[in-house]
Amino acid sequence: MATAEEKMRAFLRKQIDPREFDAPEFQKDPFQVYKRLRDDHPVFHDRFHNRWVISRYWDIDSVFQSSEAYTRGIYDENGPYKFGSKHVFGPNILEYGVGDRHRWMRNVVAGQFVGQKLQDFLPVIDMIARELIEKLGQERNEFELVDEFSTQFPIRVISNMLGLPRSDEDRFVDWYQALIAGLGFGGEHLARGVAARNEMWEYLEPLIEARTREPGDDLLSRIIHAELDGKRMDMDEIKGFVALLLAAGGDTTDKAIANMWFHMLYTRPDQFPAVQENPELWSNVFTEMMRYDPVVHMQMRRTTKEIEMHGDVIPRGAMVLIYLGAGNRDERVFKDPDTFDVFRDDLHMGRENRSGRYKDGKPGHLGFGIGQHFCMGYAMARQEAVIACTHLANALVNPRPKFAEHPGISSPSIDSGGFRSPQELWITFDGKRALA
Ligand code: HEM
Repeated sequence: MATAEEKMRAFLRKQIDPREFDAPEFQKDPFQVYKRLRDDHPVFHDRFHNRWVISRYWDIDSVFQSSEAYTRGIYDENGPYKFGSKHVFGPNILEYGVGDRHRWMRNVVAGQFVGQKLQDFLPVIDMIARELIEKLGQERNEFELVDEFSTQFPIRVISNMLGLPRSDEDRFVDWYQALIAGLGFGGEHLARGVAARNEMWEYLEPLIEARTREPGDDLLSRIIHAELDGKRMDMDEIKGFVALLLAAGGDTTDKAIANMWFHMLYTRPDQFPAVQENPELWSNVFTEMMRYDPVVHMQMRRTTKEIEMHGDVIPRGAMVLIYLGAGNRDERVFKDPDTFDVFRDDLHMGRENRSGRYKDGKPGHLGFGIGQHFCMGYAMARQEAVIACTHLANALVNPRPKFAEHPGISSPSIDSGGFRSPQELWITFDGKRALA
């Protein structure tokens, strides 16, 4: 029989010290903590940070689906807070919970990123991928994927969709990286983010004025001329929307591409030949990456009423952290959740949808969220990532890692915003083929 002392030690071993969330080890490998959360603390009250943590798949699903019980909005839409005044992007949809303003903002742009509009835009995505691939490894048969390709590609795609001048794309690359870093807690990153935003805003103003007078067939013109009850967005709201789209559309998709290559080169090199042989499998690589170690691991909500869950009660007005990255590894839902498998048969592998419910009965990944705030760029991100990876793999002869060892995927330090990815990914190859 266990002694009282042994029982106490076993109990203490299961406890989570909230400071673990801030440790560099957690930024690199959060999965051990996630498992302890799922197993022993499915509703974890983190008293140190004054928040509650949810980590199991179906609990996360229920939080996302219950927008009357959990809100993303921190401020009252009719209260004294001036929206955008505290956000590094300026006024933008991410500050809103569910309501008329949020619905309207979604409607202004959502249609551009799906369906026929997206199909019509695919040639542009294709063209930008080819242009960048052309430049890779011109001097030597090697290149660094993150800097030379993935950070360059999605930002050029979204700025093109917005109708911003192609000649200024290099400036958008610098701006979006500073904006994203500014989402973190570090004062210096915030200051740099705000400086980048102000510079970008100054740059955008004459363009917005020109499109106000003479609209074009681009997303910026659509944002400018959209109306709700006869009212358009003001100048700051337009600029905030552009900043959000450049940052949300750029940073996430760039990390997705780098992560997909990382997994093929280092996590599952044994499955890489099958993907090279059958490029349609890049779509599975995308889906499994969004489950195994998604670009975005966490979202926040606030309770609008008391919530009972697993015998605990979360009070009204509490901050709730939803760990998508933990739910995606829930062993109650996925077999061998810690194995990356392109051929996984217990995950919905096709296109995502907002409700997270699929006809094949299989659970989907949680990496785009679910419900009212479901990612608006989900279909475009998938297309971009798959097109880019397919072209890259077709163009490179025998692509392989330059270094046998790699430090792996990690989150940036907590003082800087941003998402999970390898910091660098060197690829070497034996030559380039012309793309068909
Ligand atoms: C792999 C790439 C991407 C990932 C992992 C990602 C992830 C996410 C997640 C998790 C959310 C849910 C936020 C919440 O529940 O509060 C979200 C929302 C959003 N995403 Fe994405 N995203 C990606 C690509 C894109 C792209 C390409 C765009 C646009 C061009 C975009 C625009 C947005 C916007 C505007 C929202 C807010 C929607 C709302 O609040 O209603 N995202 N994204």
